[in-house]
Amino acid sequence: MYDDASASTADLQPGEEERTAFRKAEKVYKLYKTIQSKNSSSRRRQKRDALALKTDLTQVIDFAAILNDFHVCGELPPGIVRFHSPGVTDPIFCFRDKPGFFFIPRALNVEEQCQLLRESLASFPEPPNRTNHTAIYGPLVGLLDAARKNKLLGKFEFDNLQSNSHSFVGEDDRDGQFCKIIAPAVTLLRKLRWSTLGLQFDWSKRSYDISLPHREIPSVLCLLAKKLAVPAMPLGEEFSPEAAIVNYFGPSDMLGGHLDDMEADWSKPIVSISLGCKAIFLLGGKTRDDPPLAMFLRSGDVVLMAGEARQCFHGVPRIFCDDENADCSALVSHLTGEEDIVLREYIQNSRVNINIRQVF
Ligand code: OGA
Ligand code: MN
Repeated sequence: MYDDASASTADLQPGEEERTAFRKAEKVYKLYKTIQSKNSSSRRRQKRDALALKTDLTQVIDFAAILNDFHVCGELPPGIVRFHSPGVTDPIFCFRDKPGFFFIPRALNVEEQCQLLRESLASFPEPPNRTNHTAIYGPLVGLLDAARKNKLLGKFEFDNLQSNSHSFVGEDDRDGQFCKIIAPAVTLLRKLRWSTLGLQFDWSKRSYDISLPHREIPSVLCLLAKKLAVPAMPLGEEFSPEAAIVNYFGPSDMLGGHLDDMEADWSKPIVSISLGCKAIFLLGGKTRDDPPLAMFLRSGDVVLMAGEARQCFHGVPRIFCDDENADCSALVSHLTGEEDIVLREYIQNSRVNINIRQVF
């Protein structure tokens, strides 16, 4: 039923045949932007271009629909099998040809999604955890709280001595030469791209730096990951979460094809949780030349990559933030409190992915 994604790239432009199968699939699914113009003739052209660029989603595997059909008639599409895990009643799906890959549709209920989203923006980016902002601004404290209160973030500067370690949150608190305003907290929140929990990952060295100060993975997340990992663990062994990378995606962000090969022990799974707007996930093979499978990831879905699948290229070429496709209204309508206004605004245009790893 599901062909590989390269099937949609039948009419290739000159030179494109040199691209890898993975790159071709990314090109099929990525978001194409048309240049905005007030000029009517080019608006016509835009409309034409937009039609031409409309993504063909017919080959994208939709586990929500598969789960629904499975509940109704008990059947699964060819190549997809149900995995039975002791004590788990909700279906877990696997591909017959991709050992080690598990898809758990709606693994998290809406309360759990809300709680994890809150922590992803409130406590996960807090020092000593590092984020993409750390190298530029130093440790930032209270980012979400400052965004809720519409505050500016600033940094103290003592005479000639610039102190990166004295980041603070202040209300337009421009105290002459001593304080330098960085940016509104909401802007920094929107520009958050990653944070790291547990053992800290050094992106420049592409390795874990165990000498960096860190806290253990929060216990709620640790327990959840242990429970979710069970289907992908050898019988009798327990998953031991040591590090997590939290990815924050805006509407036009994508995560290019990659392997997660920095952990010493590849026999242990990666537990990957999706929150917020729907995305397309590509699962390839051991080289970029293997055509990937494309599937939707929705808020509350969990993916496990273990065994052979742990060595497979994967990536996220597309996020859907439009009302019709984002498919996160359950989460959004659950964020009703005054405190959650910033979260609600944020998640309507974002996706958060938490992937939890055992490093050693
Ligand atoms: C990663 C990753 C997948 C996702 O961060 O290594 O593969 O669903 N994320 O965002
Ligand atoms: Mn990855």
